[in-house]
Amino acid sequence: MSKRLKGLVWLSSLLVIAGAAVLIVISIVVTDEHPLSTLSPVGRHGREIADLINPIFIVAGVVFFLVQGAVLALWWRYRVAGSDTGGGEHGYYEDDEFPEQVHGNNRLEIAWTLIPTALLAVISVFTLVVLFALDDVEASDDDMVVTVIGQQWWWEYQYHLDGDTTTPPDFVTANELVIPVGVDVPLDIKSRDVIHSFWIPKLNGKKDAVPGRSHDWVIQAEEPGRFRGQCTEFCGLSHGYMKMVAIALPPGEFTQWRDNQITAASAPAEGTAAAAGWEVFSQQCASCHVVNGLTTPVNRGGESDTPDGWDIYGEFNGANAGTYLAVDTLVAGAAPNLTHLMTRSTFAGSIYDLYLGAGEHVEYLELAEAATLNRGDLEAWIANAPERKPADANGLRGMPARAGLSPEDIDNVVAFLSTLK
Ligand code: CUA
Repeated sequence: MSKRLKGLVWLSSLLVIAGAAVLIVISIVVTDEHPLSTLSPVGRHGREIADLINPIFIVAGVVFFLVQGAVLALWWRYRVAGSDTGGGEHGYYEDDEFPEQVHGNNRLEIAWTLIPTALLAVISVFTLVVLFALDDVEASDDDMVVTVIGQQWWWEYQYHLDGDTTTPPDFVTANELVIPVGVDVPLDIKSRDVIHSFWIPKLNGKKDAVPGRSHDWVIQAEEPGRFRGQCTEFCGLSHGYMKMVAIALPPGEFTQWRDNQITAASAPAEGTAAAAGWEVFSQQCASCHVVNGLTTPVNRGGESDTPDGWDIYGEFNGANAGTYLAVDTLVAGAAPNLTHLMTRSTFAGSIYDLYLGAGEHVEYLELAEAATLNRGDLEAWIANAPERKPADANGLRGMPARAGLSPEDIDNVVAFLSTLK
């Protein structure tokens, strides 16, 4: 067998094996239970995407096996095994020796031009229809809009209940995007630093969060549930740890959740561990973490002392910065707003569960009261976050280690955090 033929056989075999491997992996990984599956949508936008890619995948699979089958069949049909089957003077062709040369087969060439063209044309029509459908938001101008801000390495959500993103948000939360079931929730996706990409695969496709830009997107869930997501644009050291969760609640529960989020925190009773924890928190944590009603806003909005990236708050920078900060303390700084930390099921960019085994057993609104705190991970995180989630080398991104905190300090901080319901 000549080298060329051997290569061809290897290549075809590898392609067939690779194709089979891809099919097997997909069938194992992308089941209904898998949290990051595009193929088991729960929202109408996710469904539109799945209904597009499923048939395309089948057609592509058929093409793959037809082409690979043809390659193998041709190899078999025209193989040169020995001198009795013809071939060159040695019974096979040397590299510098060629069989009878044939040029041109119009029917064949027209066929392999027209068939793929027609296939791609059909696919592009359906793709465009879906792309336009994804932009079709069933929300009116005064419906709730959530501004999503990608930051290294977590997600901030600013809820504008009246739909007006030019005024300060009604409340700010992090990592867990809570939405009412059955409602199109428009998103206004931004970035504070580098390019991230927002992706909750069961609810919709990906949308980039780009510094200096504002991207419209929409999310909708047809059933209550908890849907995992992941930043899908490489954004630095802890890109892989930049996860998020969307929680879809029945409308009544959503209203209950929303009304609670709007409330401010109150100071813990004097003499308690929580009060001692608040002392530590206010010195060590409050310059980045906002707790509405307790922390004092740090002016990061003005031109003069604006760290890179703060112009994402657009209208509120420059001339209006002072006004904005005077009337509103809600915009989190360089870290998640913790006002209602205990109502969330995850922390640290959704890489840890805040409660033990909460996902299956406890209703979302009951977490703070009924679930058992994941104290181990929370304390380890407070003590030395970079050990668990690498931070930027210059210390300007990611939660820094708090080496100065004693075990007692950490206990107290956890006691304080536990009051943030
Ligand atoms: Cu943010 Cu990757």
